[in-house]
Amino acid sequence: MSGDEVDLGRRRMITGATAVTGGVGAACVAVPFVSYWEPSVAAQAAGAPVEVDISELRPGEKITVEWQRKPVWVIRRTEEELATLQGHEDSLRDPQSEESDQPDYVANANRSLKPEYLVMIGICTHLGCSPTFDPGRELESGWSGGFFCPCHGGKYDLAGRVLNGVPPPKNMAVPPHRYLSDTVILVGEDEGVA
Ligand code: FES
Repeated sequence: MSGDEVDLGRRRMITGATAVTGGVGAACVAVPFVSYWEPSVAAQAAGAPVEVDISELRPGEKITVEWQRKPVWVIRRTEEELATLQGHEDSLRDPQSEESDQPDYVANANRSLKPEYLVMIGICTHLGCSPTFDPGRELESGWSGGFFCPCHGGKYDLAGRVLNGVPPPKNMAVPPHRYLSDTVILVGEDEGVA
C-alpha cells in the first residue's frame, strides 16, 4: 500500500470520527451546536489555529488538515526514514533551510520540534502543485525518497528539503505550531515555544 493510499484511509477514518462526535453533539444540544459551529468555520477560514489529534497516527503515516486554506501535513516518520535525512547534504539546495519559510525552532536536519513528527505545508514551492508522499522511492542516487512533485519533477527529502537540479526554489514551508500535549498539535500558533 502506498503512502497516499494509507493517507486516504486514515483521513476517511478521522473524518468519520469527527462526524460521530458532531452527531452526538447535535442530538443533545442542537441549537448551541449550530451557533458554536458557524463562527468556528469562519474563524478557521480567517486563519485561526487548528488542533490536530495525532494519537492514532502510526509510524510511516501522514494525515492532512486545513489551515488558512492550505493543506498541512503531519507525518510520523520511522527510525529508518529519519536515518535517510543524514549524510546527503551535498545533494540538497538548502540543507540548513536558511532560505526556507519556517520558524527558528525547527532549524535542524529533521525540521521539526520532535524528530519523528514533521508538520509541513503540503505545497510545492515551484508553482504550487501537491507533491506525493513517497518514502523509500529512489529515483536517482543521493535521494532515498520523500516527496515527489509530479508537475515538473520536484524532489524533496523526508524533511521537505529540495534536491539540487529540480525546479522548486526552496524547501517546503513549515507553519508555526506547538504541542498542547503528547497527542495534540496546535497548527497556526507557537506562543510559548522556546
Ligand atoms: S509545481 Fe512542483 S515542480 Fe513545478
